[in-house]
Amino acid sequence: MAFKGRDVISILDFSRNELEHVFRVANKMRGIMKHGTTLLKTNLMASLFFEPSTRTRLSFETAMARLGGRVVGFAEPGGTSIAKGETLEDTIRMVDAYTDIIVMRHPKEGSASSAAQVADHPVINAGDGSQHHPTQAMLDLFTIWRELGKVDGLHVAVVGDLKHGRAATSLIYGLSKFDHVRLSLVSPSLLKIRNEVADYLSEKNISMSETENLTDVIRDADVVYVTRIQKERFSDPAEYERVKGSYCLDLRAISGTNDQMIILHPLPRVDELATEVDSSPHAKYFEQAKNGVPVRMALLALILGEAR
Ligand code: NCD
Repeated sequence: MAFKGRDVISILDFSRNELEHVFRVANKMRGIMKHGTTLLKTNLMASLFFEPSTRTRLSFETAMARLGGRVVGFAEPGGTSIAKGETLEDTIRMVDAYTDIIVMRHPKEGSASSAAQVADHPVINAGDGSQHHPTQAMLDLFTIWRELGKVDGLHVAVVGDLKHGRAATSLIYGLSKFDHVRLSLVSPSLLKIRNEVADYLSEKNISMSETENLTDVIRDADVVYVTRIQKERFSDPAEYERVKGSYCLDLRAISGTNDQMIILHPLPRVDELATEVDSSPHAKYFEQAKNGVPVRMALLALILGEAR
């Protein structure tokens, strides 16, 4: 499979077979995660985070370190020449000259794709505004695949801010690659999926229903994917005030659901997922966050041509 040298901009650029290949390699990486390898010992990864991040940045950097590679970069662009007005393209040209692969998170939609156009080395999109977060979707799908043994035929409820949430959007796109997945999209009407996502789903004939009410769908769901209302992406603060606190998944909400049902969340959570749920056997979101390391190890090794 042709992973070597590839950019990772959108999950839509990957076929189902390619995604399953990433899962298989990630499964192997789980086994070597703790003691590490020297597979990428000659490689240097740039980690460019123009927006806050905990899990994505640290799991990419951990993945690289566990593979014996090294990392340069920043988590706070205020300390770089961007503060002097340097363009993203110029910054990327420099970083591209120094390193072998670039992982970038940026608030602007389309920025990862612009970076990939100027960089000779591969660029991995770690989130571009509200648009895409492909590696999050890969680890979400990997978690579902491991926990439930398959993705085909599942009923997945995606809950929260589906308009601004790049993790939710990328997961929806990723699920569309599998067979007979049923989507229940649960959000306040202000935060429904964007038109381009709705158009894509209808073009692909994906079974999908939209509702504001989680109780309508939760009893029949195999996966409940909860997301945070993305406060920082609202242009109108009054609009945020109207929808904040729309959902709170607590133990009462999940009573009577199917035994196998799993709850995922890309994290960070605010108030949409009660901490009392953490000890429920349905809660898999910390396992999901942990899976970020082997999945990113797999991607880095495949793209840098050291895994097949
Ligand atoms: C998500 C993100 O940054 O898009 N977090 C993550 O990468 N795990 C979700 C969010 O911020 O709500």
